[in-house]
Amino acid sequence: MEEQVCYRPIGIVHSPYKEPHGVPFQPSFGRGVEGTVEVFPEYADGLANLDGFSHITLICHFHRSVGYRLRVTTPHRTGLRGVFATRAPHRPNPIGVSTVRLLGVDGNIVHIADLDIIDGTPLLDIKPYVPVFIEPDKLNNGWLEGE
Ligand SMILES: C[S@@+](CC[C@H](N)C(=O)[O-])C[C@H]1O[C@@H](n2cnc3c(N)ncnc32)[C@H](O)[C@@H]1O
Repeated sequence: MEEQVCYRPIGIVHSPYKEPHGVPFQPSFGRGVEGTVEVFPEYADGLANLDGFSHITLICHFHRSVGYRLRVTTPHRTGLRGVFATRAPHRPNPIGVSTVRLLGVDGNIVHIADLDIIDGTPLLDIKPYVPVFIEPDKLNNGWLEGE
């Protein structure tokens, strides 16, 4: 098994949020807030055909994350939960996965809305959000449905 995996950012997120504090916990809590994704020119051709999707998933390196705990509190409920049962930004690999609204693609700039990401966050990947890939009758929200 590889001891390290190194990824090179494909771009950078530009956001009105400059610090982690005060940023929405998820895109659904940040409705209407707009930003852009700047995809580095060498990857821009990979944005072809993206503009038909209403939402895209951004996979980011949460560069301002500091350390981690395996049990964390969350803003949603009291008590400690396993970090892998949460979307906490402080994790062994500080990867953020945010499905945001796609407003348009203009060359290498992707216009987005509903952000929970701070300015300057390195972008590792973009994927279209395709709800039909999930069987809706098999969805549930784990511990978030309790209490
Ligand atoms: C709870 S996380 C959820 C992120 C993503 N939607 C996910 O589920 O992986 C969102 C929080 O991450 C923090 N955050 C956003 N960008 C960050 C960055 N580049 N470095 C560290 N923390 C960041 C902000 O405090 C924001 O409220």
